[in-house]
Amino acid sequence: MSEIKKVAVVGGGTMGNGIAHVFAMSGFDVDLVETKQELLDRAVSTIEKNLDRMVSREKISEEQKSRTLENIRPSLDLTESVKEADLVVEAVPENFPLKKQVFIEIDKTAPERTIIATNTSSISITKLAAVTDRAEKFIGMHFFNPVPVMKLVEIVNGLETDPDVTEKIEKTSKKLGKVPIPVNDSPGFVSNRVLMPMINEAIYCVYEGIGTPEHIDQVMKLGMAHPMGPLRLADFIGLDVCLNILNVLYEGFKDPKYRACPLLVKMVDAGKLGDKTGIGFYLHD
Ligand code: 3HC
Repeated sequence: MSEIKKVAVVGGGTMGNGIAHVFAMSGFDVDLVETKQELLDRAVSTIEKNLDRMVSREKISEEQKSRTLENIRPSLDLTESVKEADLVVEAVPENFPLKKQVFIEIDKTAPERTIIATNTSSISITKLAAVTDRAEKFIGMHFFNPVPVMKLVEIVNGLETDPDVTEKIEKTSKKLGKVPIPVNDSPGFVSNRVLMPMINEAIYCVYEGIGTPEHIDQVMKLGMAHPMGPLRLADFIGLDVCLNILNVLYEGFKDPKYRACPLLVKMVDAGKLGDKTGIGFYLHD
């Protein structure tokens, strides 16, 4: 299998711009694809801001920042961007019909050699792979927020993923300075199967009046050395995203232990989604 050099990242939201950032910083030639100019501009300015932060903390030089930005080609044309890509990483919103439409288009245009990776946090890799005619070249590449900082890439193998593809994606993840951990496709994979029940239990502790969000978070930060408490983390991830993943676990395993706390459901209904709406378990700027 040929080496991965040219990458198309589809979707420039929180995860997509972070993914484009790390590929470009590691010398890959990156097309960052969005649907609207405004979204594309926002993605590029977020990358610039995060690179500036790395320069100011002396993690990278000004020159590395410029080189990283030079490696990114903003694009509004999905077809054009995947035409010569060795790897396409999809990071559009967690919505099956939307992802299906994107994968059909990528599969139609990308060369036969192209590997398609998805950054989905909750949808079955096997189900997404089945939308394409290249299930053996389809894989989960699950990054963590903030992507430039978090070391893990959870590599998720679908039912038909070719072991050579897994190996190649593991090697590529290492080139990004990440640690790839291979797992098999299952609801929530490993990361969210373990993380979300913890967050849900923390929400139950608020719901049952056992502690305030601040106190519950302090318990986990000071007692368990978590960098953020579970409720602060839930706000950071997005309460809608947490609820969606819990529902995937609940439906996937048909096990009541994954039942989302009613308080989480109510907060999502009320539009209190965490950082992105300015209010969740905490008030945010
Ligand atoms: N880009 C580049 N660098 C960034 C950054 C970004 N977006 N965000 C933070 N940083 C860097 C800072 O520059 C700083 O670098 P330094 O240590 O070299 O100076 C370092 O990260 C720490 O940042 P801060 O000092 O600003 O703030 P904190 O020390 O409070 O750390 C945090 C912030 C890194 C977010 C830390 O709180 C943390 O690790 N939290 C847990 C995050 C987590 O669990 N993420 C996973 C979420 S689950 C997920 O994504 C999967 C999905 O499927 C749900």
